[in-house]
Amino acid sequence: MRMDIDINNIIIKKMKKITNICCIGAGYVGGPTMAVIAQKCPEIEVNVVDINQQRINEWNNIDLDNLPIYEPGLKEVIAESRNRNLFFSTNVAKGIGEAEMIFISVNTPTKTYGKGKGMAADLKYIELCARQIAMVAKTDKIVVEKSTLPVRTAETIREILKNTGNGVNFQILSNPEFLAEGTAIADLYNADRVLIGGEQTSEGKIAMDALTEIYAHWLPRERILQTNVWSSELSKLTANAFLAQRISSINSLSALCEKTEANIEEVARAIGSDSRIGSKFLKSSVGFGGSCFQKDILNLVYICRNLGLNEVADYWEQVIIMNNYQKKRFADKIIATLFNTVSGKKIAFLGWAFKKDTNDTRETAAMYVADYLMDDLANIMVYDPKVKPEQMFADLNYLNTRNPEQNKAQLNTSTDPYDTSKDAHAIVILTEWDEFINYDWHKIFDSMMKPAFIFDGRNIMDREKLELIGFKYFGIGK
Ligand code: NAD
Ligand code: UDX
Repeated sequence: MRMDIDINNIIIKKMKKITNICCIGAGYVGGPTMAVIAQKCPEIEVNVVDINQQRINEWNNIDLDNLPIYEPGLKEVIAESRNRNLFFSTNVAKGIGEAEMIFISVNTPTKTYGKGKGMAADLKYIELCARQIAMVAKTDKIVVEKSTLPVRTAETIREILKNTGNGVNFQILSNPEFLAEGTAIADLYNADRVLIGGEQTSEGKIAMDALTEIYAHWLPRERILQTNVWSSELSKLTANAFLAQRISSINSLSALCEKTEANIEEVARAIGSDSRIGSKFLKSSVGFGGSCFQKDILNLVYICRNLGLNEVADYWEQVIIMNNYQKKRFADKIIATLFNTVSGKKIAFLGWAFKKDTNDTRETAAMYVADYLMDDLANIMVYDPKVKPEQMFADLNYLNTRNPEQNKAQLNTSTDPYDTSKDAHAIVILTEWDEFINYDWHKIFDSMMKPAFIFDGRNIMDREKLELIGFKYFGIGK
């Protein structure tokens, strides 16, 4: 009995209760993640800070339909906690100074210059955050890596923080985020697991427990896993690699299906019914996009090559090679079917976002397919319910295949799907937005050039129904 009391006392003494959090980076991860933490932990003040003034203004927008990110359920969460215990600001130093726990949630894109160009993760934003924390901090902090990082990055952060010489103690945790865009809020509410990696010391354990307590406000404790820092960092990279690998595997088979009259959806159902394989992430498509899969696999490949693990690197690189092949293969099929040229032909794009229920277009397959068709001199018109036209042009300009004027000359946008399809030789479905399924397809058919082709890059449409109307329908892998 006496023993129990002592143990409890020790635990209570050592438990660090967090009352003030700062998150550096108000992006697709920082915004929704902190909004949910603020909602579920009303006693904690959460300050989300960013150097991008426009983004912060948009997070503070009174009109909740104009937040910088479109994500189902997000505006309701923001409405509940914003200016109660959730604040968005550009005052990074103040946020850091007041916080006991600092999440780093800045972007870690693929390097576009110098050593590791096109492969390695660019960690300059992470380093800048670490340096700013080192400069500003006057009290002990728990620093949490929320961004996806190469394994052993915590060492770099620790090195920078350790050398401040101002006597402040830092604990570095790795707490990668597993949410998917379009379902971010549901994923955060009901995470399969939360991963917390920390130093295997008593101070490390106290820090991990402090973060565990935050998530335990709404998640069962058995889903909150504590590991060493390196396992946590590496698990995030590899989880994404495994998910992307499934998509490339099924997409590789879609090409085989098209040559053999097998149907990829039937094959996926048959494979996925095996409980050892499982049915998720077997949806064949025009190719995966998004800010994470390609970047994280390239980073994994780079790390493996640097460590002399060339066979391992080659193995994972194939996932990207297959994805590029799928996007190109889809564009080639469109050109070949339209009598070997799309020159001067209007091609209607339905969808530009990399998946439904998001306005994010990073690495979207749509921009690559557009680029290939524009090389063959197509005139493209795009409708997407959530993506702004300036974003579509920014994506094309980022590819840098032709100058911005030429991009503007060959690509138009519309806010109306019927206007988009009018006089088009073909409709190309690039994003699986639900609304596409219920359009008046008779009306669309009547307004198109004949033969009227439809290329369904997401396999969402009812082939039989469209063929009855008169369309020439092409899906993926069937
Ligand atoms: P994002 O580009 O949407 O947001 C990053 C934000 O950080 C930007 O607003 C930028 O202005 C800000 N920033 C950069 N440097 C800064 C600095 N020094 N000080 C203050 N603000 C700074 O990126 P994201 O999609 O939120 O991704 C963030 C990290 O999370 C990445 O490492 C990514 O790989 C990872 N991740 C992303 C997702 C996703 O679905 N997008 C999911 C899991 C993990
Ligand atoms: C991914 C991971 O799922 C998430 O855990 C991680 O935190 C961030 O990266 P995200 O990129 O937001 O999330 O979306 P995801 O649902 O994984 O889709 C990525 C791409 O793969 C999209 O273009 C999607 O359309 C495509 N996809 C997905 C397929 O083509 N087929 C599938 O079966 C699943």
